[in-house]
Amino acid sequence: MKFGLLGKDISYSKSPMIFKLIKEHTGIELSYDLFDIEKDEINNYILLLKEGLLDGLQVTKPYKEVVMDFCDELTETAKKIGSVNTIYVRDQKVIGDNTDAYGFYQLLRHASIILNHQHICILGNGGAAKSVYHVCQNQLITPTIFKRSNSLKESISPIEKNYSDDALLKCNIIIQATSHDFDEVFISRLKDQGCQPEVVIDLMYHQETNVMSLGKHAYDGKLMLIFQAIQSFELFLNQKIKHVEILVEKMKGVL
Ligand SMILES: NC(=O)c1ccc[n+]([C@@H]2O[C@H](COP(=O)([O-])OP(=O)(O)OC[C@H]3O[C@@H](n4cnc5c(N)ncnc54)[C@H](OP(=O)(O)O)[C@@H]3O)[C@@H](O)[C@H]2O)c1
Repeated sequence: MKFGLLGKDISYSKSPMIFKLIKEHTGIELSYDLFDIEKDEINNYILLLKEGLLDGLQVTKPYKEVVMDFCDELTETAKKIGSVNTIYVRDQKVIGDNTDAYGFYQLLRHASIILNHQHICILGNGGAAKSVYHVCQNQLITPTIFKRSNSLKESISPIEKNYSDDALLKCNIIIQATSHDFDEVFISRLKDQGCQPEVVIDLMYHQETNVMSLGKHAYDGKLMLIFQAIQSFELFLNQKIKHVEILVEKMKGVL
């Protein structure tokens, strides 16, 4: 079976490694390629899916939103979040779905994080922030979104603020969903003012970030990455992976 990732400047991606581990675990013969493409090439890959020359695609930045226009149908989850990271064919229709929300939900579950604190905030207002917001909304929580004052993105939440020390100091749970690590000077200033949230989750998975150093408990985005890939694979095959917890433990050890 042939899968791949559509995106731009994606050589850093850990997805080929994740799918190699899925291949070893399931015994299913598969390949997973990085398709580092320009926007005007997206349609070529959708055609490959339709023709059965590809069996499923994952999508990453900067195409998670634009790719929605190339799908015949969007799942309810993809519609609600407003972005697609998984594309497959069902009954000859190209379906756009989103597994980032499931990945984030599983991260919370595995880390035993309960979103019952009063002040939950999401840093950033991009695609990942929308998935996190969706999971919070499913739990009847409306987090505060922090964004840059010059951001051109549409609003996600009725409660949106620009970054300010005062507002951040009140947060009990911080979910860092920007593509940027906040600088040490800014983080030190927050620490000096007594900022110590109960939980910090940073969706990045390459390194310990400065924001993580604020939290009494801190988590990176590896588990989210693992679970979004697992659900994408299950959607590609339209079947569940057996003994998934064994696979997850193996992935945690390797990533
Ligand atoms: N663990 C996982 O499975 C997983 C899944 C998805 C994403 N992620 C990670 O989540 C992060 C965001 O991804 P995305 O898909 O949401 O990207 P995106 O749609 O491009 O959004 C990027 C966000 O970062 C903000 N940003 C960029 N540079 C900034 C800066 N210097 N200061 C403050 N904010 C800045 C942008 O704000 P503006 O609107 O102001 O530009 C925007 O809110 C990435 O690190 C990605 O790797 C992880």
